[in-house]
Amino acid sequence: MLMSVIIVLVLIFAFRTYLRMTKQMCDQNVSMVGRVVIVTGANSGIGFQTAKDLARRGARVILGCRSVDRGTKARDEIISVTNNKNVVFKQIDLSSLRSVREFAKDIIETENELHVLINNAGMFSSEKSYTEDGIDTVMQVNYFGPFLLTRLLLPLLKKSQPSRIVNVSSIFNLFGTINFKDDNHKSFYNGILTYCNSKLCNLIFTIELSERLRDTGVVVNAVHPGIILTNITNGCSNLLYRVGFAVLCWFNNLTDEDGAQTPLHLATSDIGGNATGKFFINCSESSLVSPKTRNEVLRKKLWEHSNKLIRFDESSVQL
Ligand SMILES: NC(=O)c1ccc[n+]([C@@H]2O[C@H](COP(=O)([O-])OP(=O)(O)OC[C@H]3O[C@@H](n4cnc5c(N)ncnc54)[C@H](OP(=O)(O)O)[C@@H]3O)[C@@H](O)[C@H]2O)c1
Repeated sequence: MLMSVIIVLVLIFAFRTYLRMTKQMCDQNVSMVGRVVIVTGANSGIGFQTAKDLARRGARVILGCRSVDRGTKARDEIISVTNNKNVVFKQIDLSSLRSVREFAKDIIETENELHVLINNAGMFSSEKSYTEDGIDTVMQVNYFGPFLLTRLLLPLLKKSQPSRIVNVSSIFNLFGTINFKDDNHKSFYNGILTYCNSKLCNLIFTIELSERLRDTGVVVNAVHPGIILTNITNGCSNLLYRVGFAVLCWFNNLTDEDGAQTPLHLATSDIGGNATGKFFINCSESSLVSPKTRNEVLRKKLWEHSNKLIRFDESSVQL
């Protein structure tokens, strides 16, 4: 018995070490001077590390955060660490369609160029809740909000081409489903499944958008950043979920900086500038995508459904 326990423990630690040793870092030397980048959810976790690294490379970095306090604190810290004064905070609450529209309007009016949009902000919740727009909060923050933001910023991204969109999705897309009749989860709610569904939508959007953007000079890809103990479960009141997630994170053995590597790889590398409609893990293209992403009819249906739910007038923005 004791021997079996020891063997299991050795295997666990060996696999953990293997994961740590095979983790990839993006090229640290690519300059981003002259590039304008937006990172949403840039005050914490993976988004903060991503924004900091882009500032270190000389980009103009716009931190899109919902809290004025946390956003300005992150801005000040990034400026002090990188000495890049071209880092600004702008408020955006992805759980509000009005806020997303105001943020996008401000960007269009004040920025001449936008080269990289990183849709990083995201949340997890074990409790069902609805936004002021009547949409499931997790679905809106993780999918409908970034969908609207991206659509509104596309004219500027196209004008600034070559440009890139990076959607921070998750390997949990594999467990997602799309229920058009109840994507507000009114009849049944499970926090983990809702999160998976939002990340699947994110990925399907990435692929559909890449098709629609062929030959425009704008590429769009999605990433899984790794399983990392950030603040993502702070809004989760279910202790079992929190402990389960902490164990997974311990097993994966990654830091916030590690989590920023794949978004940074797509934002800065030549590979990230040429690939489109792809999913990346550990700085490499991955096939760990739900088979549902290959269903063209489903992709188009989700596109139309999303337009309708957020009342987006396709003709108002050129695509
Ligand atoms: N950590 C993981 O294991 C993991 C795995 C796969 C994918 N991801 C994805 O990685 C992304 C970054 O997450 P993280 O792990 O770095 O978590 P995090 O530390 O909690 O960061 C999430 C960021 O999103 C922001 N945010 C949440 N709700 C928002 C809203 N309504 N409007 C605007 N911003 C909002 C948060 O702002 P506040 O500070 O104000 O809450 C925070 O800045 C997310 O999309 C997440 O789904 C994470």
